[in-house]
Order: sequence, then structure tokens, then C-alpha cells
Amino acid sequence: MGSIPSSSRASSNPSPSLGRRDAVAGILERCREAVRPALVEAVGRLHPWNGEMAAYALGWSDVAGTPDPGGSEGKGVRAALAVLGAEAVGADGGVAVPGAVAVELVHTFSLLHDDIMDGDGLRRQRPAVWKAYGTGPAVLAGDALHALAVQTLAESPGPWAGAAVRSLSGTLSALVSGQAEDLQFERRPWRGSGAVGPEQYRSMAERKTGALLGSAIGLGAVLGGAPAGTVSVLERSGCHLGVAFQAVDDLLGIWGDTAVTGKPVHGDLRQRKKTYPVLAALAGGGKAAQELAVLLESPGPMDDAAAARAALLVEEAGGRAATREEARRHMDAARCGLREASLTPRAAGDLDALFTYVLERSW
Ligand code: IPE
Ligand code: MG
Ligand code: MG
Repeated sequence: MGSIPSSSRASSNPSPSLGRRDAVAGILERCREAVRPALVEAVGRLHPWNGEMAAYALGWSDVAGTPDPGGSEGKGVRAALAVLGAEAVGADGGVAVPGAVAVELVHTFSLLHDDIMDGDGLRRQRPAVWKAYGTGPAVLAGDALHALAVQTLAESPGPWAGAAVRSLSGTLSALVSGQAEDLQFERRPWRGSGAVGPEQYRSMAERKTGALLGSAIGLGAVLGGAPAGTVSVLERSGCHLGVAFQAVDDLLGIWGDTAVTGKPVHGDLRQRKKTYPVLAALAGGGKAAQELAVLLESPGPMDDAAAARAALLVEEAGGRAATREEARRHMDAARCGLREASLTPRAAGDLDALFTYVLERSW
């Protein structure tokens, strides 16, 4: 596995005019370049049909299987976290490549299956895999990606393959258990003893979103030969990042600028999603919370006026402020983890910049 050239490292060659966004773009590009050949090679090992669906899901090709250079390839945040995780513990980023491939495959598989579960027909402005290929084939492609992720790690060179597979299996269990919670939340009432509390939501987000981000950095550190204590600090740090990201995503789902998010204003309220701002608002009690619960419980679609009123009530009941605070607390904890582990300063700086980027964008 080739080592990753440090000469192209964005933060190793700082220029006063280089903004933080450019620096992060450089980090992402460097890591993507390091990981891409192995990811392409891994997907090439799939059954051709599964491979075609995987390439579509990864944004590499269109629905006819034709290469789509302008496609909607993800930014590769998780792959970058893995590479930086290895570098942060003093290893060459190249040792993290199997981990980076595995987390990108798991991420793709989880979204592919999630769109089926959520009935979402669009992903990254294109038909979701199940819409493009059918539900059965999409389930199969997800299974194939899941298996490929485990296989990639199990076959990774060096002495840490077993530890890496053990770590990923824990992540997979956490992810599907978070997903189970999330699906069950939909059936629970808005108020009363069966209502979902904000702390239950946080616990779900730790597993659904946090586990894989934590695993990305953690796998990099594992493959870099880091001691268990360092791995677990980094995993926790990534998990906090995931919870903070989820909180910001929830804010954007209600108050996000449509031009930025590509989603309708108040979208999550129209869909009556049980997100942190709404749950925190309801948990606070009071007049605004009562009126909000009535609105959410009312049958039929929520029109523009009702959704706007609901957004106002969430804010009045303190849900927006509580969610901002939730995001801030978890971002602080994520950063604190980076300081707690004694990391290579340059990679720690790159990780910190990437954390900020993750929180600031609405991917
Ligand atoms: C997707 O969860 C995360 C996983 C599948 C683990 P969501 O359903 O909340 O996210 P989006 O909005 O479809 O991306
Ligand atoms: Mg979804
Ligand atoms: Mg979902």
C-alpha cells in the first residue's frame, strides 16, 4: 500500500490566502485520491449486477451503468476520517485504506437500505437505488456492500485485521440498532408515557449516525496500531461529532435555507419527523408545547400555514435553542477528545478542520 504524499497535504503547506474551506477541500481530495483505487478495486469484485448498483449508489455511474463523471459522488468524509485517524496516531495514512473503504461501503449500504425503509425516492438529487433498480435488487446490493466491507477489512494486510473486523462488527450492530429505534420512534405518540424524550433521541443518534463516524476514525487508529485507550477516545470523539451533526441536520430540516439544503422549508415538520428540536420542545411542556402537540397529532397533511405555525411553536417552546445547545455541547466534546488523545499535531489539526466542515455543511 503506497504511502500518502505529505507534500500535497493542505495544512502542511499553509498559505495565508488559503481559507479553511480550501484547506478542507484539499484534505478531502488527498484522502479520496488515496482511497479511491482500493474502493474501485473492491466494488469490481462484486457480482456485475451488484457492482452496477453499487457504482450507481456511489455516484460513479448513471442508471444505465454509464460512467457519470459529473455524478453525485459523496465527499468521502468517512474515508478521510479513517486516513486522518491513522495519521493522528503517527502511522502512514495508507495503512487506513482498507478501513476507509470499509466505512464508505457501510455508509453506502446503510443509505441504500435506509431509503427503502423511509420510502425516500430521491438520494443526492437522483432516484434512490430502489427506485432505479427495484426494491429486491436494492436490498441485495446493500447486502453485497455490507459483506464486501467486512471482507475488505478481514483481508487487510498487517497485524490489525482481526481487531479492525471486531471493531466494525460492533459498529454495524450499533448502526442497525439505532436504525431500529429510529423506525420505532415513528410509531410512538407525541405525548404521554410512550412519548420519545430528547435523551432517547440522542441515544438513537449516537448509534445511527455517531457509530459510523466514530468507527471511521477508530478504524484508522486501529490499523495504525494505536493502543486501545487512544482508539476509544477517538471513537467517542467521532461519535460526538455524529450527534452534533444530527442536531444541525435537524435544525436545517426545519429552518434550513431551501437553496442550500435542497429540501422544502419546514420539511421535517410537514413529514412529522420526530427530530430533536420537536422532542425538546414537547418535553419542555407549557402552552406552546401543548399547541404543538395538537398540531402534530391532527390527521391529514400539514399545509404551509400549519407547518409555519409548528416551526414557531417549536421555537417558542425552546426546541431551537435546546438543539443549538445540543450541537455545541457535542462539538465541544468531539474537539475535547482530539485534545485528550496525544495525537500528531498536524493530523489533529486536519481532523479539527474536518470536524468543523462536517458541522457547517448540510450534506
Ligand atoms: C440515515 O438516516 C442513516 C442510516 C441509515 C444509518 P436518516 O434516514 O435519518 O437520514 P437521511 O435523511 O435519509 O439521509
Ligand atoms: Mg432516510
Ligand atoms: Mg431513516
